[in-house]
Amino acid sequence: MNDKTLCMSAINAMSFSYSPYSECKVGAALLSSSGKVYTGCNIENASFSPTVCAERTAFFKAISEGERDFVKIAVAGGKNGIIDPGFTPCGVCRQVMAEFCRPDFRILIVNAENSFDEFSLAQLLPEAFKI
Ligand code: THU
Repeated sequence: MNDKTLCMSAINAMSFSYSPYSECKVGAALLSSSGKVYTGCNIENASFSPTVCAERTAFFKAISEGERDFVKIAVAGGKNGIIDPGFTPCGVCRQVMAEFCRPDFRILIVNAENSFDEFSLAQLLPEAFKI
């Protein structure tokens, strides 16, 4: 799966976002080393704290189906579904990535329909907590 196709899957996943409170639509597409893509969206809740981010939805779908090894993730998000190039994964999602991914895990942040910025997990979460 090439980078652009994964980014398009993340953009597509934004449409499933359940976000009546923040009105931020977020989509993620996670490629496992088995070659499967797991998509996710953010799912909010009236009680706020049960809200789950798009990235963790994608990771938890994959992990709950037996996946343990991942290649890259694409993330697209923004208020009212308008892609915000600054929409990087939150700290909790970075920590979940650190549990399952190597420091060179690739994180693609969609800028617009046809462009993305790329970071490694080590760049977004240096000195990750590990036990
Ligand atoms: N959100 C994500 O889906 N991913 C992130 O990495 C940051 C935040 C969602 C959670 C909430 O529904 C909305 O964006 C605003 O915080």
